Amino acid sequence: MQNQEVYDSVVAKFEKVFGAKPAVVAYAPGRIEVLGNHTDYNEGFVFSAAIDKGTFFAVSPAEDDKVTLVANDLDASYETTLAAVAKVESGATWANYPLGTFNWLLDGEPAKAGKGFKAVFGGNIPLGAGLSSSAALEMATALALAKVYGIEKDKTTLAKIGQKAEHTFAGCPCGLLDQASSMYGKAGALVKSDFRSNCFETVSMGPAVAFMMVKSNAKHALVDGAYASRRQACEDAAKHFAKVLRKPVTHLRDVTMAEWVLYKGGLDETQAKRAVHPIGEDERVLQGAALLEKGDLKAFGALMFDSHESSRNWFENSCAELDTIVDAAKSIPEVYGARLSGGGFGGSCCLLVDPTAADKIAAEITAQYKAVYGDEPTCSLIKPSDGAHLV
Ligand code: GLA
Repeated sequence: MQNQEVYDSVVAKFEKVFGAKPAVVAYAPGRIEVLGNHTDYNEGFVFSAAIDKGTFFAVSPAEDDKVTLVANDLDASYETTLAAVAKVESGATWANYPLGTFNWLLDGEPAKAGKGFKAVFGGNIPLGAGLSSSAALEMATALALAKVYGIEKDKTTLAKIGQKAEHTFAGCPCGLLDQASSMYGKAGALVKSDFRSNCFETVSMGPAVAFMMVKSNAKHALVDGAYASRRQACEDAAKHFAKVLRKPVTHLRDVTMAEWVLYKGGLDETQAKRAVHPIGEDERVLQGAALLEKGDLKAFGALMFDSHESSRNWFENSCAELDTIVDAAKSIPEVYGARLSGGGFGGSCCLLVDPTAADKIAAEITAQYKAVYGDEPTCSLIKPSDGAHLV
């Protein structure tokens, strides 16, 4: 579905359920992660982009303390009151993303809002594809509710509110990448993030290049512990480097590859493997920035292939399906680079491609994937797009 159709359907549902037009509608897009994997919570660097698909959140204030959420795509609803806003433990767990965002927008005291709200939301980001449909929902919720309650907060603060909702309501200890990309995306540009200073720059890309997302059919779920255990290993490794290096270290951002080689001896084998991934990714993002400035897309793409190799061998957050896609991509000259995108363990690969060869690339990847797994991946060209905004 195109964005306009999603908007129309969300607004029509709102009118049907609540009998009037919504007071506010906000839109927030999903994201692709282009280079820099699992670096955000290590205070490192990432290239990402907001995509041309997202979530619309339509809302009006309630006359009383009732909070009503309608998920248009699921045809489901959830009701609570201001005083009872809390994590949903079972059943309508989808409500945790907007509820958690509302909760932290009100500093953890939703009763302060005075009145409740009624909302309908819906989107066109495929679920489980690693395109951050949950961050899109959080950011659309945050923007719309900030408007309804007259709360003024900058984009980074709203992104952090969404992240806190993930940590406390949804149960995923994610970094800030997904929410920041959704807020700071710009049409035709990549977002270059520094998660130490929380500085988000945009870097324009020429028309000679595009991204193709290839969605495997492997399950992607970050709430089941594998993401958390990777994050823990990185934090434990940072503590080790803080002890042995004669300089301040708070996160793996502070450790160079040369230091990892010299001092990894004090880590257990798994910690050493996990730590080298974000350390290498930070270096690749910085090299990639210089290459993009020179317009050297082939060399930038080579860094994407290296990134995937590092995921595959060291961070172990790839899977057979994603490896097959990247290996297939390597055999196609019009693909400059390919890697898994986002948390990993399933989901999608992000390919840097010559857009004039898109059909040929999609056909070739599909054929190679089908020969191994019998089913077909979904290939779509992605346009880097504008970030979250009120409609
Ligand atoms: C998921 C998380 C992000 C980030 C990526 C990996 O998308 O939500 O915070 O850690 O994985 O780079």
